[in-house]
Amino acid sequence: MSLHLPPVLVVDDEKNMRRSLQTMLGDEGYAVRTAESAEEALGLLAQEDFFMVVTDARLGGMSGYDFLAKIQPQWPDLPSLMITAYATPKLAVEAIKAGAMDYLSKPFEPEELFHAVARCAERYRLLRENAALRSRASEVFTLEQIVGESPKIRELRQLIRTVAATDARVLILGESGTGKELVAGALHSLSGRRNEDYVRINCAAIPEMLLESELFGHEKGAFTGALRQKPGRVEEADGGTIFLDEIADMGKPLQAKLLRFLEDGSFTRVGGTEELRVNVRLVAATNRDIVEAIAAGEFREDLFHRLNVVQFNLPPLRERGEDVSLLADHFLKIFRAALKKNINAFGPAARLKLLAHRWPGNVRELRNVVERALILETGHEIQPASLPDFSFEQRLQKGGPPQLAPDESLEAALERMERELIQAALEQHNFSLTRAAGQLKLTRHSLRYRMQRLNMKMTNGVTD
Ligand SMILES: Nc1ncnc2c1ncn2[C@@H]1O[C@H](COP(=O)(O)OP(=O)(O)OP(=O)(O)O)[C@@H](O)[C@H]1O
Ligand SMILES: [Mg+2]
Repeated sequence: MSLHLPPVLVVDDEKNMRRSLQTMLGDEGYAVRTAESAEEALGLLAQEDFFMVVTDARLGGMSGYDFLAKIQPQWPDLPSLMITAYATPKLAVEAIKAGAMDYLSKPFEPEELFHAVARCAERYRLLRENAALRSRASEVFTLEQIVGESPKIRELRQLIRTVAATDARVLILGESGTGKELVAGALHSLSGRRNEDYVRINCAAIPEMLLESELFGHEKGAFTGALRQKPGRVEEADGGTIFLDEIADMGKPLQAKLLRFLEDGSFTRVGGTEELRVNVRLVAATNRDIVEAIAAGEFREDLFHRLNVVQFNLPPLRERGEDVSLLADHFLKIFRAALKKNINAFGPAARLKLLAHRWPGNVRELRNVVERALILETGHEIQPASLPDFSFEQRLQKGGPPQLAPDESLEAALERMERELIQAALEQHNFSLTRAAGQLKLTRHSLRYRMQRLNMKMTNGVTD
């Protein structure tokens, strides 16, 4: 990968020295800019990009040492090379102390200069590459990604903007598929912590035993399989944000440890004794009814109050009116490009069908429905036939009383219904057990238990 290299800035008050440095470096293929004083150089640095600075130690006006000390805090990644008059260890130490990455003493061979400059160029390239990698690794969330013009969504965007700037803890509540993860991401991306790490942990997806060590780390030998020390994700998130998704699924012993952590940011690794401390902002979410979880003794009330400094309640899609249409168009655009299909719009009947549906799986369900429609549709407009048959759900929502099949007992009919409801929830959530359980307001464990009892197979691509 060849990276464009900006010029090197040469600072020397002697005209001949400036000229010869410019010629030597220019012949080697570097772009060169020159300044005759530190003051002039500071002006140039403020306006242009350089990959390094070469400066004489002695300058008229501000000295080379003071110059380097001055640019350090503002451009900490800018390497510099100091040229001193005599080779004395004391001067070398002074140069390095002032922040020079390297130094040369006069007289020097051109090769020595080229070598030092090449090292700085290499460092510049590495820093750039790393920055590029980091920005790719950390997804940036924006408010524009949260599509919708209903009053509740406009209000939500405003609230995110206000709260993101603070360090306040946020608890995000809302049915499955309402956009809790988007909101959590936006809170980080719009905060002062945006350049630090954003660490996401799904508390329901990790077995209870491993969750503690995932969160807080472990010492070597803390348990079988702990072959080496592992720092916790909270340490990774130091200075940044940690998002604990599906928090209501966290077991009670770990809730106690989290509570202590929230009091002052302190914790110990599993099997460790040393008290560690980090500075992280915590955002948590759940699609379960947390008040019910507290009443059932499954979630600590004191922890709830600690988390609940600011509460976001995401509205279900069925309460967002025309947003259904806006979101459908939004996903149409996304999937049209991804699937390379020439489909421009929803036909009027298809749009009506979308607006009539109740969307128990919310935006996620709508997204899946649009993706499927684009795959199935053969014309230029989406037709109702390419949308799922929502009638089963509609029958559940508002149809007349359910009917017994001939010869069916009440017990068998209830089981059948339970099976159908679970199956529908699984289908809506692409067979994710965690999400289906969330929608059904069950823990994953109790959903799994019911499925076993109903003889429902865990095959068919059901995942955690
Ligand atoms: N307002 C919105 N605008 C655009 N896309 C959205 C919006 N809300 C949700 N989505 C999309 O819908 C999908 C589900 O959202 P998300 O994963 O944030 O849901 P969730 O509330 O975390 O659900 P769960 O409780 O099941 O984890 C994602 O693909 C997300 O990008
Ligand atoms: Mg989620």
